[in-house]
Amino acid sequence: MPTFTDEEAKEYDSRITRLVPGYELLHTTTAAQLKATLPDNAHILVVGSGTGKDIAELAALNPTWQFTAQDISTDMLNIGQKRFADLGISDCVTIHVGDITQLTTTFDAALCLLVLHFLADNGDKKSLLRAVAKQLKSSAHLYLADLMRPETSFERDAQFTLCQQLGLTDIGVERMKHNFEHEFYPLDRLRLSELLDNAGYSTPKLYFKALSFSGYVIQKR
Ligand SMILES: C[S@@+](CC[C@H](N)C(=O)[O-])C[C@H]1O[C@@H](n2cnc3c(N)ncnc32)[C@H](O)[C@@H]1O
Repeated sequence: MPTFTDEEAKEYDSRITRLVPGYELLHTTTAAQLKATLPDNAHILVVGSGTGKDIAELAALNPTWQFTAQDISTDMLNIGQKRFADLGISDCVTIHVGDITQLTTTFDAALCLLVLHFLADNGDKKSLLRAVAKQLKSSAHLYLADLMRPETSFERDAQFTLCQQLGLTDIGVERMKHNFEHEFYPLDRLRLSELLDNAGYSTPKLYFKALSFSGYVIQKR
């Protein structure tokens, strides 16, 4: 997994839109669904909130919502904290560095965008999904976005082409190829459904797809 510390954290916001085609759209389509489903004063858990993009998008849609920004990288969260201050939304956000199991609140919804694909399918993915389910109210939604296993033999190559069109350099593409092989643990749809079922969720519904990056809305059973 990338470290998401120091320079990696500082450069995250400028790099991510070249690495994830449709990054903006992923966030706006996620936020629109929370707006359509959640009441005022809802409390939203953002797992791997990073530099705060998820929360910035959501807070603009409903100023009464409360957020818990959880991440294992202090450097990413520090950048997020500054972003929240600049946007004047710090009062709506509780920052939590470290493990999700330490949280005591139950939430009306959770986001886990571009995080789970960094965890190996050796029990780590299952543990995180279970830990999130434990923090969710009954029937609440989890919004999950991940790099998935390619569904065609040319999907990955198309992704590299698209990222170059978005401004990624040749070296950046080489690094991405290496990272896809060694730092990501993509699932296919069947295995994702199996893990979710096992962790207490219902069938995932696809709402976003840009080649291998896929977003699902999933209800806690
Ligand atoms: C690619 S960034 C995504 C950040 C943000 N969700 C976004 O959409 O821009 C991945 C983030 O997940 C965090 N992360 C990785 N493993 C994690 C874990 N087990 N629990 C919580 N956060 C984790 C990283 O520190 C990093 O900030």
